[in-house]
Amino acid sequence: MTRQNAVVPALTITSPDDPRIGDYRALTDVELRTRWEPPNGLFIAEGELVIERALRAGYRMRSALVDEKRVAQLTGLPADAPLYAAPPAVLESITGFHVHRGILASFHRRETPQMPELLAKARCIAVLEGLNTHTNLGALFRSAAALGIDAVVLSPNCADPLYRRAVRVSMGEVFAIPYAKSDDWPGTLTAIREAGFTLLALTPGDGAIPIGSLTPRQRERPALLLGAEGPGLTRAAMEAADARVVIPMYNGVDSLNVATAGAIAFYELTR
Ligand SMILES: C[S@@+](CC[C@H](N)C(=O)[O-])C[C@H]1O[C@@H](n2cnc3c(N)ncnc32)[C@H](O)[C@@H]1O
Repeated sequence: MTRQNAVVPALTITSPDDPRIGDYRALTDVELRTRWEPPNGLFIAEGELVIERALRAGYRMRSALVDEKRVAQLTGLPADAPLYAAPPAVLESITGFHVHRGILASFHRRETPQMPELLAKARCIAVLEGLNTHTNLGALFRSAAALGIDAVVLSPNCADPLYRRAVRVSMGEVFAIPYAKSDDWPGTLTAIREAGFTLLALTPGDGAIPIGSLTPRQRERPALLLGAEGPGLTRAAMEAADARVVIPMYNGVDSLNVATAGAIAFYELTR
């Protein structure tokens, strides 16, 4: 990042009640943040690397908030967004946690692609049903980006990929991969099949075919459907699928973590 500190000086924050840093308040209150961020069109990124990835992906910064000791080392923040600096104790009382990465930034959200457009451009996609854990969601996006998945479709009850923890666990790869949230479930699964995908329900349950046995035809344009920790895929999702697919397991283990299952399936279907 090339830095503009010389052009835009850091503005010092001395009180956690300063209205200029409203974007960063109570970051540990997941419920409040989840209700507040999307309707207000913003998200929070943490740490220089992730912030740089958001900027590279074209997200527009609203402001940055930094540990005052780090100001001199920063480079490449945009000149048109205010840079606020605060002592660690003030940072902690604003955010609710010790900001050990030293920098947070608030970004404007942008429109996600329309579902037909997203599907038209993709060959291999991940479809996530009821993924409500930010860490699993972030890990899935990181694997999806790394292993060549073209797009991610989310059911309406999935967590927000731009929630701070999901962004952090993904190492900013949520910015690299296009995604869209369905507003018609399980209708979107029919739309995915009608767009030419073979819908493969990943399940550890009985009667599924081993992933290594998929035919070349089934591998041509796969949509890999993954369910939540605990309940797994709904009956409606299972019934909508073209095939049920299992990653064989050993030692009596009954299932894999969903992010692990996703990574294995992504590798198998994109290699
Ligand atoms: C922890 S599992 C859910 C377990 C749930 N009891 C079930 O039967 O689906 C979460 C998700 O990971 C995927 N998964 C986990 N282990 C798998 C395996 N061995 N083969 C295929 N998919 C698996 C499935 O998509 C599943 O919905």
